[in-house]
Amino acid sequence: MKVEQFIENAITEIRNEVQGQAIIGLSGGVDSSVCAILAYRALGKRLTPVYVDSGLMRQFESDRIEQLFKEIGLIRVNAHDKFLEALKGVDDPEQKRKIVGETFIRIFEEEARKIKADTLIQGTIYPDRIESEGGIKSHHNVGGLPITMEFKRIVEPLRDLYKDEVRETARVLGLPVEISERMPYPGPGLAVRIIGEVTKEKLDVVRKANAIVEEEIMKFSPWQAFAAILGKATGVKGDNRIYGWIVAIRSISSRDAMTADIMELDWNVLKLISSRITGEIPSVARVVYDLTPKPPGTIEFE
Ligand code: XMP
Repeated sequence: MKVEQFIENAITEIRNEVQGQAIIGLSGGVDSSVCAILAYRALGKRLTPVYVDSGLMRQFESDRIEQLFKEIGLIRVNAHDKFLEALKGVDDPEQKRKIVGETFIRIFEEEARKIKADTLIQGTIYPDRIESEGGIKSHHNVGGLPITMEFKRIVEPLRDLYKDEVRETARVLGLPVEISERMPYPGPGLAVRIIGEVTKEKLDVVRKANAIVEEEIMKFSPWQAFAAILGKATGVKGDNRIYGWIVAIRSISSRDAMTADIMELDWNVLKLISSRITGEIPSVARVVYDLTPKPPGTIEFE
């Protein structure tokens, strides 16, 4: 099917399925952005796009998304403390995913109640469904819709599309390149890039390290490149031994995220990233590069 035809069909489908007010979680990723634009074209003011600022996002990301989507009425909800509180003391990866998912949904429900929306629109794409059904991931997107969800209806207009088709749709819809070509980013955000408990300190470290990785690697067009925190190790900084964070760099190529190859980055690029991370973030003791393809590794660390 031609992209133009898909767009027309999706708009009709959304219009037919949604009677009253609808809400969509817009993360700024290509999937939810495309979905929000389609839904906005179908519903206009009957759609409320909500950006949950979880505190698990990348550097400067939240301000940028707010700016890009204010013209379709984006509401930004600051929920840093709620997420940190909910994640306190939790180190099990699946548990973390579920908590993030549940916190997201509760916030949506709160926003939905305010505008009396009974429909949730989601940018779920085909590989999300396959991985969810196969039990590889506990759930797509924010990671596990709680059973007691209050929405009457969930509408998923992108459910049959692959990522490259979503990007093509974004281009045809006229979304900016920073959205149409945006690197995939997991719904649970930095929470799945921190092994163990999520704390404010670890979030600040991984966010800074991630910004450095993106600055240095994006020009090589990886499918995904990012930093994660693995734990602690001993290091020497100045005249002192420190017990600091181990930051892992991951950079992969892929077609659809179901499998992935490690990128053979130039040694000098890796050395530069390593020295920038240890030099610019005092509490980092060590930097490692992940050499695991998928399978057997997943793309994210958790
Ligand atoms: P994995 O780690 O499962 O990741 O190999 C495959 C792709 O999915 C992204 N990912 C997620 N996306 N919610 C999402 O919306 C999640 O819980 C989640 N976990 C992983 C990951 O970044 C990669 O692109």
